[in-house]
Amino acid sequence: MTSSVIQPSGIREVAVIGLGLMGSGIAELVARSGRRVVAIEIDHGFLDQGMARLHVSLDRAVSRGKLTGTAREEILARIWPTDNIAAGVADADLVIEAIPERMDLKRTLYAQLDEACRADAILATNTSSLSITEIAGGTKYPARVAGLHFFNPAPVMKLVEVISTVLTSPDTSEKLALLARDLGKTPVQVSDRAGFIVNALLLPYLNHAVRLAETAQATREDIDKAATTGLGLPMGPLTLLDLIGLDTSLAVLEVLQAEFGGTRYTPAPLLRKLCDARLFGRKSGRGFYDYRHSTPAAAAEDHDLASAPVPAEVALIRDSDGLLDELASQITAAGISVVPRPSRETGLVIVAADPKHRVLDAALAAGHPADVVGIRFTDAGDGKPGLAELVLPDVTAAGTAAKARALAAKLGLNAVTSRDRPGFLTATLAYAHFNDAVRMFQDGFASPADIDTAMMLGCGYPRGPLQMLDDAGPAHVVTVLDAMHTATGDPAFTPVPLLAEYATAGTRFRS
Ligand code: 3HC
Repeated sequence: MTSSVIQPSGIREVAVIGLGLMGSGIAELVARSGRRVVAIEIDHGFLDQGMARLHVSLDRAVSRGKLTGTAREEILARIWPTDNIAAGVADADLVIEAIPERMDLKRTLYAQLDEACRADAILATNTSSLSITEIAGGTKYPARVAGLHFFNPAPVMKLVEVISTVLTSPDTSEKLALLARDLGKTPVQVSDRAGFIVNALLLPYLNHAVRLAETAQATREDIDKAATTGLGLPMGPLTLLDLIGLDTSLAVLEVLQAEFGGTRYTPAPLLRKLCDARLFGRKSGRGFYDYRHSTPAAAAEDHDLASAPVPAEVALIRDSDGLLDELASQITAAGISVVPRPSRETGLVIVAADPKHRVLDAALAAGHPADVVGIRFTDAGDGKPGLAELVLPDVTAAGTAAKARALAAKLGLNAVTSRDRPGFLTATLAYAHFNDAVRMFQDGFASPADIDTAMMLGCGYPRGPLQMLDDAGPAHVVTVLDAMHTATGDPAFTPVPLLAEYATAGTRFRS
């Protein structure tokens, strides 16, 4: 196949090999750019599924008025689905490989490509984690091999990581960066290291969320809400794991663990168990959530809230910072009496929760620890209503959580419930993630600007992790991380030296 249209990158015909979730998205994207696409999949079932997914995606764009019916037909006419690798790649200027993440499969395929492709064809792998250097090293012309890493859903997420090995020619990576721009993406160029930028930061954060779920720090819904409402991220970590695929996520973590070691990358046992049970997320119908029918769990929770009693009297232990002043006014306006000290009539005792400290100590000081709940307000800075974290020491009475949630519902607060561990939910997830981002900069792997751009465009973050860290204040983040480290003994929470240094000097990462 040939095309008469001269493309800015010099790439006119692209063979996409592997028509899974990513491959079909990439094929759609490339065909939309006016290029001819050979969509190659050796498994007939996967070929049909991949093409069906591509049709659904284009149909959705037509139904949303983003694409005309004629344009849809033209895009489809540019795609040639086939199971024949040799014939499919013969005329390709570029091959994008998106087959399963197994080095043995990749080696076999690249040996075939060595024989079947033109000598000047670029071979790009969409691997999430495998060593591109190892893939390139086994080929005849390693200078033309690089990584081209897209993000799920490929037609939507704006980032493409262009990964060079020590063997990749500058011309290859330049052409790929040019192509990425021509596909409407923003390329970030990095060298070959496990997880590149995004996965090396995203996966340990997702893994951390799984640990919080499996250690009953909070419900899966509350963990997700802490990330969306508290941090302003587009998806909660457990929902995102279901989107990426639990098997893919486990594979990436295993590679990161092998490369970097340490607890941060050790896959959470629950993640492994779900994979063993073949609950891979959306693609298999079930993962952390069930996609086969509507969620009865949410309905049950609403029922609990509706039946829980709202206390008639609340003791509010004010702090010198006035953090609870507005809450006091809201409670009074709701017709509930607020007292400064608990008595026998008090149904609930509220203290200001600080992620650096246990709520337990404030609960003991206030008296009536069984009735105490800590509250911490977090604002994602996006102008939307913030999050109220209700923090419950393990010594609180069984009904205290329900009373606190009933009160929060009456006041219209967007609330989650967390056990009393330093960092609670939002800070524990975010600050450990920020620490990883600083480590990546400290290692000289990527600049703060590239790290932030990659997370914003690859994962839809409203601000990058280093910008969020600056906004939270490096000194504050260091203190909370120290408290998390002391409480858990996990060295992964120790602030990295550069973060500690910036905190002491009052330096910002983005300015
Ligand atoms: N395919 C094609 N288009 C899709 C899509 C899909 N699977 N899912 C959503 N879209 C499109 C919609 O059609 C819509 O387009 P429009 O604005 O032109 O009408 C747009 O995306 C927004 O969709 P929705 O309104 O339905 O939903 P949201 O606003 O909630 O956005 C989201 C959905 C874009 C997925 C957003 O939640 C998000 O950014 N999530 C984060 C995803 C992420 O982090 N991805 C990276 C994962 S890591 C990875 O892939 C690397 C790998 O190696 C592991």
